[in-house]
Amino acid sequence: MTEQKRVVPYDLLGGEDALLALVEAFYRNMKESGETPMLKAMHSSNTKSIESRLFKYLSSWLGGPSLFMEERGSMCITDAHRPFTIGRRERDEWIINWNKALEEIGASEEVKEMVREPIFRVADMLRNVDEDDKNAVA
Ligand code: HEM
Repeated sequence: MTEQKRVVPYDLLGGEDALLALVEAFYRNMKESGETPMLKAMHSSNTKSIESRLFKYLSSWLGGPSLFMEERGSMCITDAHRPFTIGRRERDEWIINWNKALEEIGASEEVKEMVREPIFRVADMLRNVDEDDKNAVA
């Protein structure tokens, strides 16, 4: 019986080099585009360390080498986001950068479609404010 290799988004994206380019584009656009100010305000201006952490997370998450998992023993990133106020606006800014970065590296329609819903679910799961409370005046 021939064994079929499972096609993972990591490979469809183009492997390590493509993922490094994606993460680089994500934070460069965040800092320079002016389109995602809330997200930019939450991050320090030096994104070197966070770039490496997002790279490792996405490598694991997209089905490539499980770098984040091996280092941390878990894929849970809820605690890491708890110190930050994340509502719909912040979630959507994250997704804007994600989509822009995918475009920039020339990701295929197939891989973009494959990850569209799942990445939204991760970002949405990180929301930690009641929108009504956040917008309340008193
Ligand atoms: C929903 C909107 C999001 C916001 C506002 C946000 C914001 C942040 C901020 C401010 C940090 C800390 C940066 C630092 O340490 O300098 C962070 C860390 C991180 N974020 Fe997000 N993030 C979001 C969504 C996501 C998503 C969807 C992913 C994964 C697909 C992700 C993966 C990570 C990882 C891996 C870290 C590092 C965690 C660690 O080192 O323990 N984030 N995020």
